[in-house]
Amino acid sequence: MKKYLVTFLLVSTVLGISSFMSCGKINTPPNPNASAPKLPASVYDYLHVHVSGNFFANFMGSGTKDLELSEVLQFSPNQNMKVTNEGATLGRVLFYDKIMSLNNSIACASCHKQSSAFSDGMASSEGFGGKFTPRNSMSIVNPFFNNNMFWDSRTPTVKQLTLQPVFNHLEMGMESMDKLIAKIAKTSYYPALFKGAYGTEEVNAERISDAMTQFLCSMISANSKFDKGEEDNFASFTSIEKHGKDLFFGTTAKCSQCHAGGNFSAPDFPGGDYGTPPNGGADRKGTANIGLDKVYRDNGKADGQFRIPSLRNIALTAPYMHDGRFTSLDQVIEHYNSGIQNHPSLDPKLKGSNGMPQRLNLSDYDKIALVAFLKTLTDQQLLTDQKFSDPFAN
Ligand code: HEC
Ligand code: HEC
Repeated sequence: MKKYLVTFLLVSTVLGISSFMSCGKINTPPNPNASAPKLPASVYDYLHVHVSGNFFANFMGSGTKDLELSEVLQFSPNQNMKVTNEGATLGRVLFYDKIMSLNNSIACASCHKQSSAFSDGMASSEGFGGKFTPRNSMSIVNPFFNNNMFWDSRTPTVKQLTLQPVFNHLEMGMESMDKLIAKIAKTSYYPALFKGAYGTEEVNAERISDAMTQFLCSMISANSKFDKGEEDNFASFTSIEKHGKDLFFGTTAKCSQCHAGGNFSAPDFPGGDYGTPPNGGADRKGTANIGLDKVYRDNGKADGQFRIPSLRNIALTAPYMHDGRFTSLDQVIEHYNSGIQNHPSLDPKLKGSNGMPQRLNLSDYDKIALVAFLKTLTDQQLLTDQKFSDPFAN
C-alpha cells in the first residue's frame, strides 16, 4: 500500500504536482487579483495612536491622549522598528490578501479576524488545504510589546514571526519565497504599493516581512473600559466589575501575578518569575503550566508549559487555552476555581499551602464578578478602526 502511494506521488510530481493538487481536494478558487483592494485616496494615519489609562504611564505619562507611534515603538523588542503610513498600508493589504496562500484561499486574516480581536472563534483553524492547525489561533494584542510569540514562546519578535505562517503547510502552504514574490509582483496593485512604501517596485522577502511587521506593530490597543477606569478611580465600573477587579488583582486568585502589567501578559522580564536568563533563573520565556491535564497531548514549550497570554479583548476570543478546550470564560474561571490538576510541573502559584492544586472556593457571585471584570478589557476602537479593516471587503 505504502509502495503504491510512493509511486503515485513520484508520478504525480513528474506530471506536475500542482495540477494533481488542484484537481484533488484542494480546489483553486477564482483568482482574488480580479478585485484589487479599495484604499483611501490619502493613506490612513498609522503614526499616531490614541491611548487611555496607565499602560504607557511608566514612560509617557498616564491619561487619554495621542502618542507618536515612534515613541511607543522605542520600547518594542523589535529593534529599530520604523513605521511609515505607506509601509503599514502595504502590510494591511498583505495581511488581508488571499494571494499569500498556495491556492488563493487563505489570508492571515482568515484566522485573525478584526471583529474577534484578530482571533477566529475556532478551537483549531482550517488552513489552505482543509487541514487544521494543531493549536487555537491566537488573538493579536499589542504585538509591538511581545517578546515571546506563539503558544510555546518559540519566536521572540513579530518581525521573525511574520513570514512563518505563509510557509507553514497547514496554514498557507506557499512552497517557496520565490513563488510568493513572483505571484505578488504579477498583480496589478502591488508594484505601486511597494514603490510607495520603499521607493521602488521591487518585491522581496525583507520588504514583505517588514511591511507586515509595520502593520502589526501599529495595532496598539489601550482604550478599554478598564483603561478609562484607571483615570477616574473606576468611577464608571459597576459594583460587580469592581469586585471582579479586586479578586483579579488580589492575593487569593493571583491572576495578575501571571497576567501582569499593562498588557495582562507574562511578567517575563529578566529577573522576573517567568523571565529569561541570565537574571531570570530557569529559562521560562513567559510560560507556565496551569494544570489543565495530568498528561498533556501537546507539551507546549516543555512539561505542559504554555505562554501566559494577554487577556486584553479576552471576551471576544473564545474558545480558550492553547487547544481551545473551554468555550466560555465561566469554564476558564471554574478551571482556576476547582479544576486544576496536579501535574508535576504545575506552577507553584497555583498550589495551596499543602502543596496540592489550589481550590479557590469562589462563590457564584465571585465567579460572575471575575467574568464581568474580564469583559472590561475589550477595546472597541481596535475592533472597528478602519485602518485595521479588510481592504478587500465590499
Ligand atoms: C490557518 C490559520 C492561520 C493563518 C492563515 C495565520 N495564522 Fe497566525 N496563528 C494561528 C495559530 C493557530 C497561532 C498559534 C500557533 C502556535 O502557537 O503554535 C497563530 C499565532 C499568530 C501570532 C502570535 C500572537 C502572539 O501573541 O504570540 C501572530 C502575530 C500571527 N499568528 C500572525 C499571523 C500572520 C501575520 C499571518 C499571515 C502571514 C497569520 N498569522 C496566518 C493561525 C493562523
Ligand atoms: C501561574 C500563572 C497563571 C495564573 C496565576 C493565572 N493564569 Fe490564566 N493563563 C496562564 C497560562 C499559562 C495560560 C495559557 C494556558 C494554556 O493554554 O495551556 C492562561 C490562560 C488564561 C485564559 C485563556 C486565554 C486565552 O487566550 O485562551 C484566561 C481567560 C485566563 N488565563 C484567566 C485567568 C484568571 C481569571 C486568573 C485568576 C483566577 C488566571 N488566569 C490565573 C497562566 C496563569
